[in-house]
Amino acid sequence: MPLKVLVTGPIADLAAKKLSAFAVVDFYRNEKKLEGQEFTRRLSGCDAVVCQLSGPVTKETIDHNPSLKLIANVAVGYDNIDVEHATKKNILVLNTPGVLDDATADIAFALLISTARRIVEADKFLRAGKWKGFRLDLMLGSDLRDKTVGIIGFGRIGQAFARRCLGFGMKVLYTQRNRSEHEAELKAKYVSLDELLRSSDFVSIHCPLTKETKHLINDDTLSLVKPDCILVNTSRGPVVDSNALITALKRGKLRGAGLDVYENEPEVPKQLIEMDNVVLLPHIGSATEKTRLKMSELAVDGLIAAFSGNMPHNIVNKSVWDAFEKRIGTLTATK
Ligand code: GLV
Repeated sequence: MPLKVLVTGPIADLAAKKLSAFAVVDFYRNEKKLEGQEFTRRLSGCDAVVCQLSGPVTKETIDHNPSLKLIANVAVGYDNIDVEHATKKNILVLNTPGVLDDATADIAFALLISTARRIVEADKFLRAGKWKGFRLDLMLGSDLRDKTVGIIGFGRIGQAFARRCLGFGMKVLYTQRNRSEHEAELKAKYVSLDELLRSSDFVSIHCPLTKETKHLINDDTLSLVKPDCILVNTSRGPVVDSNALITALKRGKLRGAGLDVYENEPEVPKQLIEMDNVVLLPHIGSATEKTRLKMSELAVDGLIAAFSGNMPHNIVNKSVWDAFEKRIGTLTATK
């Protein structure tokens, strides 16, 4: 029996071609995101799915598809997948670590600097014909040099972001569960979340979304920030309680925010849209041509390796590998 794969959204052409040469592929090409019952139905009879953040792979989707053996997420974060349940069902889950660190750190830094220096607001001001000439007090922002940046989550992306901050003469604090072996190299100081919030002029979030990090930034934690603090989030929307964020911005507790991710994407709260001190991007952290190609290739190469009996390096739930190998034992992985 040929291997059947569903691809739920656009992936890079080169990767799509490679996959088509390996399996029978159903490419879902509709603008409307594939989710819920429609996703579950379309997945029926498939051995694998190459999926994206927009369509969650839930317990129900998994339970209704007993032939499913592998989920390749074209993203590094995999909070859109019920990994615990996939693991119970011996389904291998892949993600795309390591290829999007610089692109995502660039966007986080772009958000930091454009919020600090009011770039988007100034651009809108000029285009609206409001500029009447040079003024010493026009669009004043905050400096970066000698300011303190607090990084929540010091994995690969957090570290890449720290490198950019160092280049701009900023002091770096970080927090996460364990101390990082890279802190000396990045001149970063390990502190508690509370200390980080109390001491930072900029706070940038780079942790994954888990049960522990959901609403990590809330009314209580926001009450700790320094006056004039700017918050940047390029990780996952639900790490920040949006109501608490809106309240903090309205009360002037935060000077501004730069956001690439939201609690209920693609919905963005109207209050945020109306604020000039907030820069809003449509979840484009890793959106460069090269990075998206690498992500697509990593997902497809991992899938092909796994179904060929070679353990890929980008497995989220390695404990499943032996059971997965047994499951694919009877498959012919070519057309
Ligand atoms: C994008 O948000 C990703 O997790 O890769």
